[in-house]
Amino acid sequence: MTNQLVIFDTTMRDGEQSPGASMTKDEKVRIGKALEKMRVDIIEAGFAAASPGDFAAIQAVADAVRESTICSLARAVDRDIEHAAEALKRAERARIHTFIATSPIHMQYKLRMQPDQVIEQAVYAINKARNLIADVEFSCEDAGRSDNDFLCRIIEAAINAGASTINIPDTVGYAIPEEFGYKIKTLLERIPNADKAIFSVHCHNDLGLAVANSLAAVANGARQVECTINGLGERAGNAALEEIVMATRTRHDLFDIRTNIDSTQIVPTSRLVSNITGFAVQPNKAIVGANAFAHESGIHQDGVLKHRETYEIMKAEDVGWNANKMVMGKHSGRAAFRSRLDELGVSFETDAALNEAFARFKELADKKHEIFDEDLQALVSETNAAKVADIYKLVSLDCRSATGETPIANVVVSASGHEHKSQAEGSGPVDAALKAIESIAQSGANLQLYSVNAITQGTDSQGEVTVRLEKGGRIVNGNGSDTDIVIASAKAYIHALNLLMSNAERQHPQNDGV
Ligand code: KIV
Ligand code: ZN
Repeated sequence: MTNQLVIFDTTMRDGEQSPGASMTKDEKVRIGKALEKMRVDIIEAGFAAASPGDFAAIQAVADAVRESTICSLARAVDRDIEHAAEALKRAERARIHTFIATSPIHMQYKLRMQPDQVIEQAVYAINKARNLIADVEFSCEDAGRSDNDFLCRIIEAAINAGASTINIPDTVGYAIPEEFGYKIKTLLERIPNADKAIFSVHCHNDLGLAVANSLAAVANGARQVECTINGLGERAGNAALEEIVMATRTRHDLFDIRTNIDSTQIVPTSRLVSNITGFAVQPNKAIVGANAFAHESGIHQDGVLKHRETYEIMKAEDVGWNANKMVMGKHSGRAAFRSRLDELGVSFETDAALNEAFARFKELADKKHEIFDEDLQALVSETNAAKVADIYKLVSLDCRSATGETPIANVVVSASGHEHKSQAEGSGPVDAALKAIESIAQSGANLQLYSVNAITQGTDSQGEVTVRLEKGGRIVNGNGSDTDIVIASAKAYIHALNLLMSNAERQHPQNDGV
């Protein structure tokens, strides 16, 4: 058995299935490039049949990323497989990931199919996919609750049909590590042609065991792990990529395997995903949380100063934690700006896009003397946010708040090119500003989340605001950043309104498609 562990990232597919985490095409390209830089082996860029937007995003990622394999999910039906193959046409390396449910409860109630029909459908889908693209992965949805005898039958047939990766998902996060490890061991021992495929796992975190279950599977012979940055994903999320990579690396004494991952890219990629989705990383999150390497207690600090390994099992710099670096200031030129963004993995398609971002940089540098990498990343997000269906634009905002007085905001917003003015009071200046904007847009959307985060240290930091809006079951995240948090909030609200106006309907991959 090989000692190479394949890292399959599904941040842009399963991660995107988190309510509110949907990503635009440009955002997916940026995340795709960051994952490529991290040397992720396989990037699941979306579910091509879900919507024209997802289809175009997979195409764009396939065009932009040439080193990693690009993958699209597809239910075991003609339409999904055809869409996946078409979206992946220009990829340097492509994979179709097709799946069907195999647990008794899913087959009976969701698919309404007999087990033999499910095997037949899986084999049909794999054959079809293999005729379009050589690299085919097959997943037994809800394998965690599927019968091992049935899994042996369907997997043997899937490998014979040409699937070279077999994925065993714990779709509902029900498994316990010992049991899940045993499942992998049993399948590898009992399936006669198991040596012709790589066995993969895909664990959900409903019981907080996604990483533990994945590691138990690796210990028992799985050689691909499906995971997401920051553990993003349906419900409680998926196994976190950073934890899988660092656990296998740090405990190399137990796991005799290696990955291709450049771990120094973990923190920048985590920040990028958090910034794009608006899902903040909790401070005590392993590896990528702000406190993951902070020692507060005197005894610990003393120990680390005397000998780092007394309390540290990993080096912060190995996962990409750098002290904030002052990278640029108001005298920095366009060439320096472009080269720093290049180093951060951001490039511009046109000179006009570069000029626009540079103009924003100059504006910011006038307000804030030291510009850090985090500021540059926020600035690029904002330049991209401005590209989303420009229905609403913030023209001006004037807010007053004083002790003992009711805050009041006057805003001018242009809607499809026509300027509208509005005034509103609120419990604070942010509340007043958002009420004034809403009175112009009349979106009727429900505010589900409002969060502010200081991008860097110091009181001159930019505030990065996320606004999550829901309307008719659709959820979007708007982002805005500015050294003035009321303006950042207004920008985030307007970005969310524009997203609500723009996105096409998406299908959920776990919907009954057979
Ligand atoms: O959780 C799951 O079962 C999935 C499959 C589509 C792989 O996401
Ligand atoms: Zn999943």
